[in-house]
Amino acid sequence: MENWKADILMVDDEPRNLLALEALLQPLGQNLLRAQSGEEALRMVLEHDLAVILLDVRMPGIDGFETARLIRSRERSRYTPIIFLTGVSMEMESAFRGYEVGAVDYLTKPFVPEVLRSKVSVFVDLHKKNAALTNEIKERTVAEEQLRESEVQLRALAARLISIREEERARIAREIHDELGQVLTGLKMDVTWLAKRLAGTEEQLVEKAEAMSQLINSTMHLIRRISTGLRPEILDDMGLVAAFRWQANEFQKRMGMRCRLKLPQEQVELDRELSTAVFRIFQEILTNIARHAKANSVEVNLSIAADVLKLAVVDDGIGITDSQILGRESLGLLGMQERAQLFDGEVSIHGVPGRGTTVSVSIPMLPPGQP
Ligand SMILES: Nc1ncnc2c1ncn2[C@@H]1O[C@H](COP(=O)(O)OP(=O)(O)OP(=O)(O)O)[C@@H](O)[C@H]1O
Ligand SMILES: [Mg+2]
Repeated sequence: MENWKADILMVDDEPRNLLALEALLQPLGQNLLRAQSGEEALRMVLEHDLAVILLDVRMPGIDGFETARLIRSRERSRYTPIIFLTGVSMEMESAFRGYEVGAVDYLTKPFVPEVLRSKVSVFVDLHKKNAALTNEIKERTVAEEQLRESEVQLRALAARLISIREEERARIAREIHDELGQVLTGLKMDVTWLAKRLAGTEEQLVEKAEAMSQLINSTMHLIRRISTGLRPEILDDMGLVAAFRWQANEFQKRMGMRCRLKLPQEQVELDRELSTAVFRIFQEILTNIARHAKANSVEVNLSIAADVLKLAVVDDGIGITDSQILGRESLGLLGMQERAQLFDGEVSIHGVPGRGTTVSVSIPMLPPGQP
């Protein structure tokens, strides 16, 4: 038994009886509370969470049965165990009427000390176990609440990281393209000027200048490739559908894999953040196919209706397994989920061994004008 003290209420109109009861129950080492009438007992059940109530049946004013009925009708004492105390002459009647009003047991005077104590301690025990369980539930509820909260925070953090990364990529892409591009253009003009001046005089120097000019050209290409890799201009300039077409084309060229496209006919106006998210998801899907699928062909289906954007990408490769989908290290897949969830969308992934993988994305679209 736990070492805190449980409250036991004894109700009897005879002070003598109360004292006798108290003496018998003292050895249990719990808190003994006394009430000398039904009214007083009712007041006490409002103030304490009682382990058990020992209730005299025959009392002036509200008798034991009525008191029990009222105790049961109160929220706090609805399930508090009540043991009726009764004289031998009323034993049978008390028992029947007692059970009707919600007693759990009854004891006949004079009490056998061991019987009294063992009955009471069963309820004290139950009460303490119940209290421990209630406490555990409360702690768990708090822990669950905290867990939910930290999940919300993590999600917000992930969203923030995603948008910071996009901003950074766009900024770096712009700077590489604009600043470096300008410097290189200037350099190229200078080298061309030099080459013209040297023409017909220093053959070796002219060759050198031409080699430099070539090098500058290939550096310009490289810069274009890097900045497009960071954030394709076409996404901002021409929109999602054009960016999809471009990305699929790149993929086809690089992987030598057939890529069939079904895209919306007309250009659709989409929020910049949303098109970035969908485009990044598409890139991750294609990267995964290139890295893992061993596929021969890919089918891409993008549809944008008024209320929902849908993307399905199907490959005919080895097929992703469930454990890979659920794997902790599947950060690429997790990133797709996060991006979709930012827009209340979802990603579902399905693989059939030897038959390929399908990734489906669906994102609800808000009517224009709503945040
Ligand atoms: N199209 C696919 N076909 C077969 N297996 C796939 C496919 N896409 C993903 N997988 C499997 O699922 C795993 C998880 O993919 P995920 O994109 O999360 O990780 P990753 O590509 O290995 O690494 P990264 O975090 O860089 O994306 C992959 O390692 C791969 O085993
Ligand atoms: Mg990946």
